[in-house]
Amino acid sequence: MVLDKQYKIAEVDKRIYGSFIEHLGRAVYGGIYDPTHPDADEDGFRKDVIDLVNELKLPIVRYPGGNMVSAYNWEDGVGPKELRPRRLELAWRTIETNEVGTNEFMKWANKVNAEVMMAVNLGTRGIDAARHLIEYCNHPSGTYYSDLRIKHGFKEPHRIKTWCLGNEMDGPWQVGHKTADEYGRLALETAKAMRLVDPTIELVACGSSNSDMPTFPEWEATVLDHTYEAVDYISLHQYYGNRSDDTANYLAKSMVMDDFIKTVIATCDYVKAKKRSKKTMNLSFDEWNVWYHSNDQDRQIEPWEIAPPQLEDIYNFEDALLVGTLIITFLKHADRVKMACLAQLVNVIAPIMTENGGGAWKQTIFYPYMHASVYGRGVSLNPVIQSSKYDSKEYTDVPYLESAAVYNEANEELTIFAVNRHLEEQLELECDIRSFEDYQVIEHIVLENSDLKVANSVGKQQVKPHSNGNAGLQDGRLFAHLPKASWNVIRLKK
Ligand code: AHR
Repeated sequence: MVLDKQYKIAEVDKRIYGSFIEHLGRAVYGGIYDPTHPDADEDGFRKDVIDLVNELKLPIVRYPGGNMVSAYNWEDGVGPKELRPRRLELAWRTIETNEVGTNEFMKWANKVNAEVMMAVNLGTRGIDAARHLIEYCNHPSGTYYSDLRIKHGFKEPHRIKTWCLGNEMDGPWQVGHKTADEYGRLALETAKAMRLVDPTIELVACGSSNSDMPTFPEWEATVLDHTYEAVDYISLHQYYGNRSDDTANYLAKSMVMDDFIKTVIATCDYVKAKKRSKKTMNLSFDEWNVWYHSNDQDRQIEPWEIAPPQLEDIYNFEDALLVGTLIITFLKHADRVKMACLAQLVNVIAPIMTENGGGAWKQTIFYPYMHASVYGRGVSLNPVIQSSKYDSKEYTDVPYLESAAVYNEANEELTIFAVNRHLEEQLELECDIRSFEDYQVIEHIVLENSDLKVANSVGKQQVKPHSNGNAGLQDGRLFAHLPKASWNVIRLKK
């Protein structure tokens, strides 16, 4: 590998380390919020969960959905709790008590120092609900909705900058599913109204729900044809799984993500050219993760329960490796991917799990995500990599080494993130760090395990990193053993 300060991709937007809390399963109730828990704070939020979220240095969190937002009345979740209605929540077929709504969530986000990416309902609702919500959240005072917020106890506006124009509107499962033309028109008109209320906001239009959708990428082309000048980002969503139990093939799936990102960039740039626009559209990969372990279990859950244990994937070690390669993929596209949300944050396909009334714990995927968020701030460098490759069942020319590097000029730190996909052999990394004179290795963190299927649980952290990696310098070059099937973080400092 060759790394040079001058080979820059772009400044990493810290919001690529975002996450997501949806009113789904035990994400909110029993996850971040449980006023009966011994560790609950004065607002009913679990302090043990807040502590774990703080370890992630979470920059932004998407809310309140997801599929849930497409039939959500935001008005149900504000004002005196005793007056809030219980509703049938149609996306996940549960009962929504509305104990937590916009104001409570903003409070929680403040406690974890995260910005909020708020989604509006463009399924069952539209321009009116969206303009009223943004007036409620962002207008200072002196109007019906801003004064209502003040009456509800929030004198200061929430000043939410980033807004999603609906969720997965291309998906037939979505309540209020639309064609690309129907959605494009509605998104444009909603964007217009929302910007009239607050011109400082940023808007995300819905891209495809995943790259296998039959309408991908025509959906993006049509939606952007309508909205190009009115929005700032197009969204991408994708989940991965090892359904055929073929790890070599599974670990290659970051290449699928890479192709997806490249196709969306190409589509954005096509619309830009068509419109003779000067503006470059950025990408918000606002749902990504591994999701497949809990699929069978979810089919057994009866409808209309409050906060049932839905989408509770228990992640194993190989999932953490895949997550590492996916984060590296975002870093390689730092010039266009400006936001990304690991979906989700607590209990629901999440790095953090809780027991109702009990403890909170870190899943395997917590670690690569945390390392990237904590150490991956700065400029993403373009590493020149030569690695041997393999072919798997579905993919060819999969490099054993997947790597990205971030240079933090202010702290004079260089961090290399690397996954060795080889399941049998360690890799000998040799890295020419030519322009990083006087830099020393300060830490080589390794996440490794002889059992690819081992998972963590409440009392047992079987998968956790150690700092005994052997990275070192010799004649201005960096050398390191990357153990077979491992995630590595090599930190250098001047
Ligand atoms: O994150 C779980 C679900 O996945 C979200 O609600 C939806 O947007 C996606 O299909």
